Amino acid sequence: MISALFLSCAWGLNFELPVSVRTRSPAAPAWAAQYKVSWDLAVPYVSTLQSTPLKYRYDAWQDTENGRQKFTRDGVETTIEKLGQEREDSLQYQIYPRVDKLDCRTDDIGGGAGPTAQAQRRLLQTGPSNAAKLGLILPDLTESRWLYNGSTLLQEGRHANKRAESWVWRVTNDEGYGEYHNTYTFYVDKDGAPLRLNMWGVNLYTGGHFDLYVADYYDYKVGKIDDQEFDVPSFCPEKPEPDSSNGRFHKNMGGLARMRSLLPNAHYGDEEYDVFVLRHGRRHRSAEEYEGRRQVFQENKLKVLEWNGRSDAHKLDINHFADWTQEEFEALMLPNKGRERPSLGNIPFDNARVKLHKPTVAKHMLPSYVDWRGTPADSPVKDQAACGSCWAFGSVASVEAAYFRETGKQLLLSEQHMIDCAWDAGNTGCMGGFQPLAFNWMADVLQLATEEAYPYEGVTNFCKKNITDKVTFKKFSQVWVNATDSLTQEEAVMEAIYTKGPMTVSVNAEGEDWRFYKSGVYNNTRCSPKLKALDHAVVVSGYGETADGQKYWIVKNTWSANWGEKGYIRISRDPAYDCGIATQAIYNDIELAD
Ligand SMILES: *[C@@H]1O[C@H](CO)[C@@H](O)[C@H](O)[C@H]1NC(C)=O
Ligand SMILES: *[C@@H]1O[C@H](CO)[C@@H](O)[C@H](O)[C@H]1NC(C)=O
Ligand SMILES: *[C@@H]1O[C@H](CO)[C@@H](O)[C@H](O)[C@H]1NC(C)=O
Ligand SMILES: *[C@@H]1O[C@H](CO)[C@@H](O)[C@H](O)[C@H]1NC(C)=O
Repeated sequence: MISALFLSCAWGLNFELPVSVRTRSPAAPAWAAQYKVSWDLAVPYVSTLQSTPLKYRYDAWQDTENGRQKFTRDGVETTIEKLGQEREDSLQYQIYPRVDKLDCRTDDIGGGAGPTAQAQRRLLQTGPSNAAKLGLILPDLTESRWLYNGSTLLQEGRHANKRAESWVWRVTNDEGYGEYHNTYTFYVDKDGAPLRLNMWGVNLYTGGHFDLYVADYYDYKVGKIDDQEFDVPSFCPEKPEPDSSNGRFHKNMGGLARMRSLLPNAHYGDEEYDVFVLRHGRRHRSAEEYEGRRQVFQENKLKVLEWNGRSDAHKLDINHFADWTQEEFEALMLPNKGRERPSLGNIPFDNARVKLHKPTVAKHMLPSYVDWRGTPADSPVKDQAACGSCWAFGSVASVEAAYFRETGKQLLLSEQHMIDCAWDAGNTGCMGGFQPLAFNWMADVLQLATEEAYPYEGVTNFCKKNITDKVTFKKFSQVWVNATDSLTQEEAVMEAIYTKGPMTVSVNAEGEDWRFYKSGVYNNTRCSPKLKALDHAVVVSGYGETADGQKYWIVKNTWSANWGEKGYIRISRDPAYDCGIATQAIYNDIELAD
């Protein structure tokens, strides 16, 4: 409490101060009840990896007095929140790009399940102030964790050579479980306008992992905000849409959207969970949300340890999904769950765009081990991040393999191009899609941008037309692998992998142990190989057999190389327990344009 007292009556009370703190600190600025502010958020490290620097522009309007908030990213994606009298009238509108125009979804701010939604519901009912209910756009420097650190001259960037007062918040742990030091420095000019937030650690805005992030603020304007600024576009539904098993929206997405929204606030306390929090970029807006997530984390951890203790089969890992509830996981990572998928029964084979694979190698000639990992046919493990775009990753990997067959070269191609542009074929950007529909789109447009020309963003954006570097096709078709008179479905897929290379398949991934898979041959007797259970797109990169005779598929996921066996999973090749790996295998047959 000493430091809280220090900050609330800062001038001159030197005898109360912890020794490390400088004397004569000015009062921490409290942000106005109504303001507008803009900032550029940069991730300097990314510039060392790719030629396009990662930089986002945010504009935000905070009207605490009237319970309204709005922010836009790069002038495109917009979120508007309005508090109502009743919890049910407190709504969040998300306006997002759909090919060349904007679309909108409406969510109940306190709707959905999981700790974020629960804590939000509680805040809406009992929250002390609109500021707490809405969340903050600028961090609350009057909180005791922020310590005054003197006046300094800013170095590089937009505010170079400006004099600034600085406040520092340190989160440090160097005992026991992995060492971490997060340091946040907030700079304010002499008139109290925000200048910069330097984040060495978890990104407080986006929840990104430990790195250096810099937010440079500008255009801070205090005063009444025009009502029009909070007008909701007429194409936004008035009420949240009901959850529909075959629809675009999962009820729970509201809460998850909030997990990703601007919440420069965080809570810490449980040493073990905090290591996870810092490694994986989580932040919590209230102590209740923190506690809820901590519990989910501890429960999942126990399940993982318990399974690893008793099972001789695959091992599980306390990985980056460990503080999500199953419902949240499905809403975000498996948006295709329950949707009707194109199948052999309802896709027309027309020999130009859609074909059936013709095996060329007899069963007794099939090798017992085929592994395309690490070859140019099998592109590196990618990361779909928090976007339901597995369908685009699976499809692009298949096209990359086809490109290799044609040219003998590896070329990484763009998932973002499909995410942004393939809506008319029936896909829904970060909210899910299917490989056959993505391939229909490819057959229509006969081109795909390179990854370099159209890099991954992890959010749905407008469809870019002026692509500088792309592959163009004279012919593009999808080829389905099916059982024949002499090959079972599994054998047909093995033959196709041997003769054609990696290809996209789908899998029933809702099992918790899939989410936490670490190593070994995955043998989940409860997952279903049936077509209607398939809810996640992946790539099959080979097959093999362990020394003790367990037959498996080698499958590449797109949840980063931190998941599973360096991003891959080996799944039982037993047709009853293969989770559908052999059920819907598709590769591409292409002819490149000159
Ligand atoms: C705090 O101020 C000192 C002295 O100016 C400086 O060396 C240090 O880098 C500052 N700390 C942070 C985290 O900005
Ligand atoms: C492509 O178009 C977008 C807007 O549609 C524009 O912002 C961008 O600068 C253009 N890029 C090139 C290389 O012309
Ligand atoms: C796929 O294989 C199954 C099982 O052999 C067969 O019933 C079905 O007719 C085949 N489909 C096509 C399109 O050949
Ligand atoms: C997978 O589980 C089933 C059912 O428990 C068992 O019969 C089978 O032997 C297991 N397979 C492997 C490879 O462990």
